[in-house]
Amino acid sequence: MATILVTGGAGYIGSHTVVELVKAGYEPIIFDNFSNSKPAVLARLHKITGKNIPFYSGDIRVREQLEKVFDENKIDAVIHFAGLKAVGESVKKPLEYYDNNVNGSRTLLMVMRDKGCKNFIFSSSATVYGEPDSVPLTENSPVKRANCPYGQTKIDVEYMAEELQKACPDFSVTLLRYFNPVGAHESGLIGEDPRGIPNNLMPYLTQVAVGRLPYLNIFGNDYPTPDGTCIRDYIHVVDLALGHVAALNKLMNVPGVHIYNLGTGIGYSVLDMVNAFSKAIGHELPHKFAPRRAGDVVQCYADPKKAFEDLGWKALKTLEDMTADSYNWQKNNPQGYED
Ligand code: NAD
Ligand code: UD1
Repeated sequence: MATILVTGGAGYIGSHTVVELVKAGYEPIIFDNFSNSKPAVLARLHKITGKNIPFYSGDIRVREQLEKVFDENKIDAVIHFAGLKAVGESVKKPLEYYDNNVNGSRTLLMVMRDKGCKNFIFSSSATVYGEPDSVPLTENSPVKRANCPYGQTKIDVEYMAEELQKACPDFSVTLLRYFNPVGAHESGLIGEDPRGIPNNLMPYLTQVAVGRLPYLNIFGNDYPTPDGTCIRDYIHVVDLALGHVAALNKLMNVPGVHIYNLGTGIGYSVLDMVNAFSKAIGHELPHKFAPRRAGDVVQCYADPKKAFEDLGWKALKTLEDMTADSYNWQKNNPQGYED
């Protein structure tokens, strides 16, 4: 079976993808520098899969560290999750974000090209669409200049990989644009473990639910939506992980640039999420209305048809699954992974 290098495989989406790769018969190798994850995840992955997943500690910006992996293994494909992802931090540290995300990806692509590995799957984001002109978003919706350095690094890496594919036509480049990943593995052994106060909605909700934070601030209730709060396409991280398996199954060694939205196609408002979460925990989740957050788009959800037609993939898990699994993870690990 094919060997897959998973950069950022110790992180939230990477770790869930490693589990699904093993289940599908692939042999993942994790490469991570733990800048936003903890080594404890490796033992959890062993517990879930029953396998010792090969692991390299390294930084994608360091060519020799990547070369070592390619020299010691025959890598058939790379799924590239490694990157920094905090929007606010990227505004304060733009050069660090371009260095990590863009230079890191460039180094990885150079090593792949030089070592003859031609299958590249990249974690892109719906953020490349900016404020949508219309929803649902298809893969042909316009890509707009990002309003923060994080978003721009996603656009830059998409373009860089596309240009490489033009220059090396036997490359298979797959750009997966994720909508809003939430949830956790049903075992409660792996999940999202942000450092510090969470920026994103779901980890904030779960931390309020376990009493780590007092209440949720809902950013804005005067948007032009049915209940006044913003609308997003929340997708269970296990469905998202399976999207990567589907992409590998169908697109490995298929030259070209392949772009897919990975979302459910359903838009939920912030209040929908609070209500679903309140149901899951059996009482109303404490929340307050607060001013709008700068840079938020009003509504963003996918048209996921292309992924279904081409890859046979669609998200299967419900909003109840997303809230129950997020809560289960946080309950079992109130402080996240141990150090
Ligand atoms: P994460 O922070 O949990 O995982 C990223 C992993 O990459 C971490 O384990 C981190 O230690 C590692 N990493 C970062 N820089 C590295 C480097 N230079 N060398 C080696 N390892 C490095 O994030 P995630 O939520 O799992 O996201 C994975 C990818 O998906 C990211 O590229 C992110 O931008 C993208 N994405 C995430 C979301 C989301 O909401 N979570 C949405 C769209 C796209
Ligand atoms: C954010 C990023 C986006 C990134 C995505 C995934 C911003 C402006 N956008 O998107 O670039 O691709 O994460 O990492 O940061 N909310 C609250 N209270 C909270 C947290 C969130 O009301 O404490 C609301 C937000 O206003 C938004 C919704 O919940 O309406 C979802 O927020 P979030 O989880 O941060 O995701 P995005 O805004 O979609």
